[in-house]
Amino acid sequence: MTAFGYEVSWFDIFFLLVSMLAVIYYFGISTFSHWEKKGVKFMKPVPFFGNTLYLAMGSQHITDCHQEIYDYFADDAYGGWFANRSPLLMVKDPELIQQVIVKDFTHFYDRGTTVDMKLDPLNANLLNMTGHRWKSLRQKLTPAFSSGKLKLMSPQFNECVDDLCGLIDEKTQKNDLIDVQESMAKLATDVIGSCAFGLQFNSLKNPDSEFRRMGRDIMKTSWRFKLRMFLRIVSDNLPSLLGVKAFNKSKEDFFINLVNDTMKYREDNKVERNDFIQILMNLKKMDEDMQIDPKNENQVILDEKLLAANTFIFFIAGFETTATTLTFCLFELSQNQEIQDKLRKEVQATVERHGAINYESTKEMEYLDRVIAETLRKYPIAGSLIRRCTKPWQIPGSKAKLEVGDRVVFQPTPSIMTPNTTLIRKNSTRKDSLKKTSAPDHPVHIYRLEMGLAIVLEQDSLSKS
Ligand code: HEM
Repeated sequence: MTAFGYEVSWFDIFFLLVSMLAVIYYFGISTFSHWEKKGVKFMKPVPFFGNTLYLAMGSQHITDCHQEIYDYFADDAYGGWFANRSPLLMVKDPELIQQVIVKDFTHFYDRGTTVDMKLDPLNANLLNMTGHRWKSLRQKLTPAFSSGKLKLMSPQFNECVDDLCGLIDEKTQKNDLIDVQESMAKLATDVIGSCAFGLQFNSLKNPDSEFRRMGRDIMKTSWRFKLRMFLRIVSDNLPSLLGVKAFNKSKEDFFINLVNDTMKYREDNKVERNDFIQILMNLKKMDEDMQIDPKNENQVILDEKLLAANTFIFFIAGFETTATTLTFCLFELSQNQEIQDKLRKEVQATVERHGAINYESTKEMEYLDRVIAETLRKYPIAGSLIRRCTKPWQIPGSKAKLEVGDRVVFQPTPSIMTPNTTLIRKNSTRKDSLKKTSAPDHPVHIYRLEMGLAIVLEQDSLSKS
C-alpha cells in the first residue's frame, strides 16, 4: 500500500502506532519522577491523571481528594503528589505551613494559578495576580481592607440586615419555611452589592433579582468548567491556548458594564459614597495623576478593566464564603442551645451598652468571634491554599529543595485545626475551642480563622518585604 507517495507495509503502520502510543504514554508519566529525584516520599500516581483521577472524572470533590492525600501521609510532615501531571507538595506540619506562608513568604509569592488575563479580563484580580504585579496591586488595595473603611460601611450592612429581618417577619407571619442558606446568600449578595458596587442589588426583597441569579450561575459547575478541567489533564495552559474562557462573554460583559456604568454615573453626577468602588476610583485617579510608565512590568496601573476585575473578585470571594459560613454557624447554633443562649446574651448586652449594632459593638463581641472562628474551623470554606515557589527553598530538616515553579498545598482539615495540638489529631473538639482558655498553642492557627487571617499575615510579610 502507498501513503504520501511511499510504499508502507502493515509492519510500518504497526510500528508507527506503537511508537505514537509510547510517546503519548511517556508524556503521561514524564513528570512522575519529580519527587523521587528529590528524595521526597510521594503517593503513587496513575498515568496522565496522577492522584486526581476521580477528581478529573467528576466523581470526587476537590476537598475530598485533598483530604485523601492528606490522610495518605499519615504522620508525615509533608508528602509529594500529582494533580494530573503537575507535582505538588502537601504540607501538613503547622511549623512548615507557617514557614511557607509567613516567614519564607518571599519564596512563595504566587498562588500558582494559571489564568490568561487577556482571554479572561475578569481574572486580572488579586487572587490570580502573581509576583511583583500582585504586590503592587495588593499595596494599592490594602487601604480598602482597613478597619476605618469598614466602619464607614456599617450603615450599608445594617440596611441589608433590616431587609433580612423584614423577610423573616414576613415568612414567620405566614408560617412559611425559611430557606436559611438561600437567605444568607441573598444577604451576602446585597451587602456586597452595596459595599463593593455601591448598588442596591435588592435580592432579599426581589426573589427574581438578577444579581442573585448571576451569583448562582457563577457558582454552578458549568460545562465550560468541566472542559477546562479536562484540558488541564494534558497541560495547565491548554485551555488558554485553545481560547476556552473561564467565564462566558455575557457574564463578563455584565460585570464589566456594571462597574463602568456605575463609575460613569458617579463621575458625571459628582456622586461619592463610602464603598469599595469609590476607593478604587480614587486610586485610579491617583494612578492617572502619577503618570506611571506603562512599560514598567512590576507596576500595576489601575484602569477600567482592572477596576472591574477587582470589584468582581469582591463579589466572587465575598458572597459565597460569607453566606456559607453564616449558614453553618446558624445550623450549629440550632444544634447547641446552650451556646446559642450565651451568644444571644452577649449580643444583647453589647448592643444595650452601645445602643446599636455597629463596627465598635461588633468588635466587642468576643464570644461571637469565637463562634464564627469555630464554625470556620469545623466547616472550612476555602478548600485548600496553594502557593507556587518563586525562589528555591530548602525544606527544613531535609536535603530536598523546592525549585521555582514547584507548588505547595495546605489542606485546612479540622484535624490540624483542633486546639492545643501541634500536629494531627483526628477528632474535632468543638466545645473546647469555644472556651476562652483554649488559646491556640501554635501560630498556624491561622487555620482556625479559616485562613482568612492568611491575608493579614501576608499583609505583614508584605510590609516587611
Ligand atoms: C467567611 C468569609 C471568608 C473567608 C473564609 C475567606 C477566605 C479567604 C482566604 C482563605 C483567602 C486567601 C486565599 C489564598 O491566599 O490563596 C482569601 C483571600 C481573599 N478574600 Fe476572602 N474570605 C472571606 C470573605 C471575604 C470577603 C467578604 C471578601 C470581600 C468582600 C473577600 C475578599 C478576598 C480577597 C480580595 C482576597 C485576595 C487577597 C489577596 O490576594 O491579598 N473575602 N479569602
